[in-house]
Amino acid sequence: MAEDTHRGLSRGLTNYGDPAFSLYLRRSFAKSMGFSGEMLARPVVGIADSRSGFNNCHRHFPELIEAVKRGVLAAGGLPLEFPTVSLGEVFLSPTSMMFRNLMSIDVEEMIRAQPMDAVVLVGGCDKTVPAQLMGAASADRPAVQLLAGPMMPTSFRGERLGACTDCRRFWALHRAGQVSSSEIEDIEGNLATTAGTCAVMGTASTMASVAEALGMALPGSAAIPAVHADRLRAAEASGRRATELALQPIRPSEVITAKSVENAMRVLLAIGGSTNAIVHLAAIAGRVGVKVDLRRLNEISDSTPVLVDLKPTGQHYMSDLYAAGGVGAVLRELGPLLHLDCLGVTGETLGERLAHEQGAWVDRAVVRPLADPLAKEGGLVALFGSLAPNGAILKRSAADADLFEREGCAVVFSSLDDLAARVDDPALDVAAEDFLVLQNAGPKSGYAMPEAGYLPIPQKLARAGVKDMVRISDARMSGTAYGTVVLHASPEAAVGGPLALVRNGDRIKLSVRERSLDLLLSESEIQKRKAAWRPAVALPARGYAKLYMDHVLQAEQGCDFDFLRQA
Ligand code: FES
Repeated sequence: MAEDTHRGLSRGLTNYGDPAFSLYLRRSFAKSMGFSGEMLARPVVGIADSRSGFNNCHRHFPELIEAVKRGVLAAGGLPLEFPTVSLGEVFLSPTSMMFRNLMSIDVEEMIRAQPMDAVVLVGGCDKTVPAQLMGAASADRPAVQLLAGPMMPTSFRGERLGACTDCRRFWALHRAGQVSSSEIEDIEGNLATTAGTCAVMGTASTMASVAEALGMALPGSAAIPAVHADRLRAAEASGRRATELALQPIRPSEVITAKSVENAMRVLLAIGGSTNAIVHLAAIAGRVGVKVDLRRLNEISDSTPVLVDLKPTGQHYMSDLYAAGGVGAVLRELGPLLHLDCLGVTGETLGERLAHEQGAWVDRAVVRPLADPLAKEGGLVALFGSLAPNGAILKRSAADADLFEREGCAVVFSSLDDLAARVDDPALDVAAEDFLVLQNAGPKSGYAMPEAGYLPIPQKLARAGVKDMVRISDARMSGTAYGTVVLHASPEAAVGGPLALVRNGDRIKLSVRERSLDLLLSESEIQKRKAAWRPAVALPARGYAKLYMDHVLQAEQGCDFDFLRQA
């Protein structure tokens, strides 16, 4: 379809066969909302609102959106908000991941179908920001990402708690019999106590940092706590900037480029970010025809130190990162490694941004200097081998390095149901040095790649004090989790990938040093098992589930739909 050259309310008219009538009717109906002719002649800035009663992280959006509107009005635009799909991480079944692409389609189509010259994307909870960036990249209309901002940690019995690394720590202690049922109930009410996204460097915080690193969010905005007044000022500034972009467009395809995606990968590695972000970044990049190559990730990882000391890999919370200087402090440290000519939605290059910020305050307890990092190499590493020919991901910064060079015996769970049924069985034949293997939890498994890769330590081992084991799956892991957990094995088991062929007692070799993950079977045995393999998942007959199963791609292609990626 040809690009619409109209602007404001006359953009993309409803088709009645008479454009003048369409505009007259649209203005008439818009006037029914009480707008003056003067307001309706302004550039239109859409505000994509992903709030919902099923999304705790977005509960402050009414106030945030008022601030966006203030910015749009002050800059001479007309702000019009519109609802989109909302993805509240813990309220969706089988998993929010299944619906990320649905939300991205909603965002793309509503940006394109409605008469807006620019859009402010208001999101935060895990999958919402990737979905909004994917949709905006495909619509390619000027867009500014406004993040929800992280929750504040809470003081509880002498320690700070924050969703959701602490959620997992206490649950593990509860499973090991060290925290009682009544204590866990008290803790439950104190893990997530304010509006905003999870308080640690989980997926939401990682994607917020990625959005700023890409140049799609305003400088300094990623880490501002949800309840901080600066968050409202960032909302106002985002509305103002989107109005300027309505008049002098910079399109997402000019901001999201091969170079800015590489910058975002550097930041992801330096912040010890979530494994999920590599999937989301691959999906966002794929919308503008940029490929995220996992072998390139390894090269970048080798030369990008971990600088940020945040849970789950370190000590602090996102609000501490904000107080310490935010993502800008990380970008300044990484400066020599970044592509500084990348354009942001501000109209400035990254180099220009960083030049303004030279000498800004940094708390070195939270953001370490490049010369004295937390870890010399990046947080994530891709593994390849006979168990994952197209790659698997390990978050080495959140893993036990003593388990990195190991050969172990597979203890196989064929599905999530099998895992739930047997992992705590006292009769389970498992030892601490075994490798737990979960099959059929990938994109096409019927579970839509849940965050189940953080397999629980079998209860009998947990009670004996085992805190970490090698765990391998085609699932994802929450960005707030930690452990020696190999994820996203591709091709996945549900499509007959090598993971499907593993049996109890098989030997598996993990070598992080060599970036390898191998099933130690002869080629003839692998071929014999492959020939005997049959798909186990029943294909859905209708609806979104069918669309999903027919078109979802593997993890290294971002689990996007094949027809949504740009060739
Ligand atoms: Fe929304 Fe964690 S539940 S970001």
